Amino acid sequence: MDIFVIQGGRRLDGTVRVSGAKNAVLPLMAASILADGPIEIAGTPRLRDISTLGKLLAHMGASVETVGDGGDGREAVRIDPSGIRNPEAPYDLVKTMRASVLVLGPLVARHGRARISLPGGCAIGARPIDQHLKGLSLLGAKASLSEGYVEIEASRLSGAVVYFDMKTVTGTENLMMAATLAKGTTVLKNAAQEPEVCCLAGALRSMGADIEGEGSDEIVVRGVPALRGVRHEVIPDRIEASTLLLAGAITGGDVTVSGAVPSAMDAVLQKLAESGAEISTVPGGVRVRREGPIRSVNVETSPYPGFPTDVQAQFMAYMCLGDGFSIVRETIFENRFMHVAELRRMGARIDVSGNTAAVKGVSALSGAPLMATDLRASASLVLAGLAAPGTTEVLRIYHLDRGYESLENKLSSLGACISRVKE
Ligand code: EPU
Repeated sequence: MDIFVIQGGRRLDGTVRVSGAKNAVLPLMAASILADGPIEIAGTPRLRDISTLGKLLAHMGASVETVGDGGDGREAVRIDPSGIRNPEAPYDLVKTMRASVLVLGPLVARHGRARISLPGGCAIGARPIDQHLKGLSLLGAKASLSEGYVEIEASRLSGAVVYFDMKTVTGTENLMMAATLAKGTTVLKNAAQEPEVCCLAGALRSMGADIEGEGSDEIVVRGVPALRGVRHEVIPDRIEASTLLLAGAITGGDVTVSGAVPSAMDAVLQKLAESGAEISTVPGGVRVRREGPIRSVNVETSPYPGFPTDVQAQFMAYMCLGDGFSIVRETIFENRFMHVAELRRMGARIDVSGNTAAVKGVSALSGAPLMATDLRASASLVLAGLAAPGTTEVLRIYHLDRGYESLENKLSSLGACISRVKE
């Protein structure tokens, strides 16, 4: 198993390019199931979650290949869904990635049936899929549970009004995809507003779907008889961009993330500015600089456009070095403080009560051996390691490899001393 070894305490400086958004690529890959022709997703990062979904689509009969992308070093994934005969997602693939549930809506809409292993809980919480199933049932699908699998069938889905009990990103995406081929009009109320939902809506529209309202909390989808193949450019990863900016801020550095879209990151950029970092929008990117102390600020996660749960752990690492008290409240997932115990081992002072962490800033953290527990928690440990004098080893970085493309190379290019070694 690979680990990261970090010699911390160096100021990061320079420009780094953001990759395409994992959480935008995954629904686009699932949307390929709906099409009559091949889909090409440009700007796809090389990540484990993306190859896992590729394997799942191949298991169902699709042909999935990686192709070059116009000479800029970025890749595209090309999926030809015409060979799909087996609308099943087995446990072995679903258990490693919950986003596999995204194939449910497209399969039932295009093939009339789906059988997918029910995803269990995961490290960050219970994460049920009741809203996905409720929505598909409202569209006329019959869902049943047997031997740990969800089986769902419908001859043709029919449009309906679906009210989500809570904002769910993949739930909204699943229903939006299913509704594209349904008979009649579907209205998704209390829909998720994330940029990744908008990216999917844009791609579906290029495929011939009739969708409006994405980005608001009500999305209207008028069903069409068929969708065609397209090439679609994926949006930049706002979570990776936020993590890289935090790497600049936590080390008192000067970092520009090229390709980052500031309007998709308002909540994070504002908190960085409140903490005393200087944020500026530069042509084609965002720059962060910090010279003075880190001011402790409070953050509370909430659905977009609120502060993203996927940046909570990284921001908490930053607050560990704040000049006072910071309250970090997690409202999306019930178990997303697993980085706390590891940060404490570096000298952080954090008390947790329920979904709230009180972080008392310390003047310095110290390097330590650490265990990564989930994707974003791993990133927070890397940030803390970059700021802490001494050596930090981050174990189990396979979690990090699910969602960050060559993070060690990107950070090294900014002057960090970080290497990947075999344990
Ligand atoms: N929920 C339910 N029932 C449902 C669906 C969701 O109770 O049917 C609950 C969840 O348990 C959670 C809340 O609703 O408490 C929100 O979950 P959501 O469905 O929005 O999460 P998701 O779609 O499974 C996506 C991202 C996550 C990100 C969350 C929140 C993808 C592939 N995953 O997950 O990304 O944290 O939205 O923004 O888009 C990550 O990249 O590290 C990651 C975990």
